[in-house]
Amino acid sequence: MSDPVIPVPPTAAKDTNCSASDYRDLYNHSLEKSERFWLDQADRLDWIKRPTVAGNWSYAPKVDIKWFEDGQLNACWNCVDRHAVATPDKTALIFEPDDPASDGRRFTYAQLKDEVARFANVMKTLGVARGDRVTIYMPMVPEAVFAMLACARIGAVHSVVFGGFSPHALRDRIEDCESDFLVTADIGKRGGKTVPLKQNVDAALSETPRVKSVLVVQVGDGSAAMTDGRDHWLHDVSAGVDNDCPCAPMEAEDPLFILYTSGSTGKPKGVLHTTGGYLLWTAMTFAYGFDHRDDDLFFCTADVGWITGHSYVAYGPLANGATQLIFEGVPNYPANDRFWQIVEKHGVTILYTAPTAIRALMADGDAPVKKHDRSSLRLLGTVGEPINPEAWRWYSDTVGEGRVPVVDTWWQTETGGIMLTTLPGAHDMKPGWAGLPMFGIEPLLVDNDGKPLEGAAEGNLCIRRSWPGQARTVYGNHARFEQTYFSTYEGLYFSGDGAKRDEHGYYRITGRVDDVLNVSGHRMGTAEIESALVLHPDVAEAAVVGFPHSVKGQGIYCYVTPNAGVDISEELEQTLRQHVRSEIGPVATPDHIHLTRALPKTRSGKIMRRILRKIAENETSSLGDTSTLADPEVVDALIAGRKGD
Ligand code: PRX
Repeated sequence: MSDPVIPVPPTAAKDTNCSASDYRDLYNHSLEKSERFWLDQADRLDWIKRPTVAGNWSYAPKVDIKWFEDGQLNACWNCVDRHAVATPDKTALIFEPDDPASDGRRFTYAQLKDEVARFANVMKTLGVARGDRVTIYMPMVPEAVFAMLACARIGAVHSVVFGGFSPHALRDRIEDCESDFLVTADIGKRGGKTVPLKQNVDAALSETPRVKSVLVVQVGDGSAAMTDGRDHWLHDVSAGVDNDCPCAPMEAEDPLFILYTSGSTGKPKGVLHTTGGYLLWTAMTFAYGFDHRDDDLFFCTADVGWITGHSYVAYGPLANGATQLIFEGVPNYPANDRFWQIVEKHGVTILYTAPTAIRALMADGDAPVKKHDRSSLRLLGTVGEPINPEAWRWYSDTVGEGRVPVVDTWWQTETGGIMLTTLPGAHDMKPGWAGLPMFGIEPLLVDNDGKPLEGAAEGNLCIRRSWPGQARTVYGNHARFEQTYFSTYEGLYFSGDGAKRDEHGYYRITGRVDDVLNVSGHRMGTAEIESALVLHPDVAEAAVVGFPHSVKGQGIYCYVTPNAGVDISEELEQTLRQHVRSEIGPVATPDHIHLTRALPKTRSGKIMRRILRKIAENETSSLGDTSTLADPEVVDALIAGRKGD
C-alpha cells in the first residue's frame, strides 16, 4: 500500500511565495538555464563586485567546485549591515535563556551591527587577521552568533566546535585546522546544569601548544581561572575598542567556515564552505523552504555547533533580514512544555526542530502542548534524521492542530542547506517523505553498481550537478574530499544515504548506507567510537554498530573484547561508557557495551559487521550466511549475551 498523501491545509496554501506551478516552472528553469537562474538568484545578496559567471565546476577526473568566482562580497554585511541600514529597528535576535525566570535579551539589526562590529574589533586587537582560523566553542548565547559574524566581517574562518564535545575532541579540531585563536565562555547553561566550557578549554590546551589567545565571554559568575597573557575576558578587551569596523571585501570563493563532521572512516573531517555560494544557498533555501515573510518569528532549535545552527540560525535567517529566536536550553527544562511555552510567550511563527525532540515530547502526551496557545504557528519543520510517520502526525495534528504545514527537510553538513523538501503551500505532504528537490538540485538514485534507477525506485542517493552551497573541500585534505564523496560513483556526489523515490518524484530517506550513525540527529562515525574504545588500556578490540531506538532514532551498540587477563564485569562496562563520554563527549555515550571474548570474523580475520548489526537489532532469525565464519560458535554466545530489551 502506498503511503498517504496529505494536502496542505487550504488556509496555509494562500499567499505563499511559491505555488505548485511556480515551483515547476522555476525548477525546470533552474536546470535548463542554470547560469541565468543562478545569476538572477545572486540578486538576493549585496555584492561589492557582481559575479558575471555562476557555476564553474567539475566532479571528474579532479573535483574542483567554484561558484560566482569573480564576485566579491562580505557575508557579515549581507547578514547584518545592509539590514541595519534598511530596517535598523527590526528585531534580529531574541534570546531566550535556559532559566525562564532569567532575563532574555533582544537585539535590533542596528544593535546587532554594533555588537558584531565591536566583537570584530576585539578579535583584531587579539591579532586575528584575514584567513586565520578561529575556533568557537560556545553555548547557545547571542555571542556565539556575534563571534561567527565577526569572523566573517574581517575575513577570518570560523570553526565552531559543539559545546558538548570533550576536551580531546576540541583539541583534535583545533590542531587539524591549525587554529591559533579560540572564543569560548566561562560556562554554558543547559537544562539547569552547568557545562564547564572554560575548564574543558584549559584541558584541551594543556595538550596542544597551538592556541595563542582565548577570548572568554562571561556567562557565569566570572570566577573561571584565566591564564595570564593567553586568556582575555570579552568585556575587558571590548571596553577598549569602538564599534566601527569595516567589512572586508572577500572573494566569493574565499573560505567562510570549517565544520567538522563524521564519516565512515578515520577522524572527523573539516568540511569547508566558501562565502558567496554558501550564503546565497542558505538565503535562498531559507526564503523558499520556510516561505519566509517579513513579520515571521523563526525558531530553529539547533545548536550553532551543527550545520543546522550555521545555516538556519546564523546565516540563512539573517541574510533574509528575519527575526529569529535563539534558545539556550533544552526542550524538557524546567518542564516538558518549554518549547510550547516559548512559542506562546514570543509568538513563534515557524518552528524548526529534530525528530528526536518530537519523539521525546510525544512520549509525554498532548497535555503539555495543549497547555499553551500555539495560534501564532504557521509552519513546522524537521531536520536531521528520518521522521517516522507516527511522530510526523503528532507534530502535524497535535502541535500544528492540523492547520499548519510540516516540511521535512533533508540535507547535510556537506550540502550547506536544504536539498529535498516539500514547499509550504505548494506541495502535498507525505509523512516520512522529505519530498522534492530544491531549485538547481538534480537527485539521482543508483544501484550498488552505480547504474541509474528510473521512476519509482530505491537506491543510493546521489546528486548529479553541483549547487552553490556545496562544500568545496575537506580542510587540508582535498584527496579525502574526492575519495569520500566522488569516488563511489564516478561523476556524482554521493550522499552516503539510501533513499526511495515514488511515482511523483518524492524522496524518502531510508538512512545511512555507510558506517555512520545518526543518534538523536547527531552524526557519528562508528570508527570514531571504536578508536575511542581501543584507547582504553583494557580493550583489545571493538566493533560499534547502530540499532533502532524509539526516541533517538539510532542507539550505539559496542561489542568490546577486553585484553587477555581482564575480567568481563559490569564495572568495566561502566568504565568504558564513561571513557567514550570523556574521549568524544556525552553525545557519543554508548547505549550498550557488550563485552565478549571474541568477535565473529571471517577466516581472513575481517569482523563480520553485518552479523553484529543483526544481533544488536535483535533480528537473529535472519543472520544470513554464517558459513564463512572462522568460528560460528561465537555468534551463539553473542546472541545469548545480547544487551537491550
Ligand atoms: O542521514 C541523513 C540525515 O542526517 C545526515 C546529515 O547529517 P549532518 O551532516 O549532521 O546534517 C544534519 C542536518 C542537516 C544525512 O546524511 N538527515 C538529515 N536530514 C534528514 C536526514 N534523514 C532523513 N530525513 C531528513 N530530513
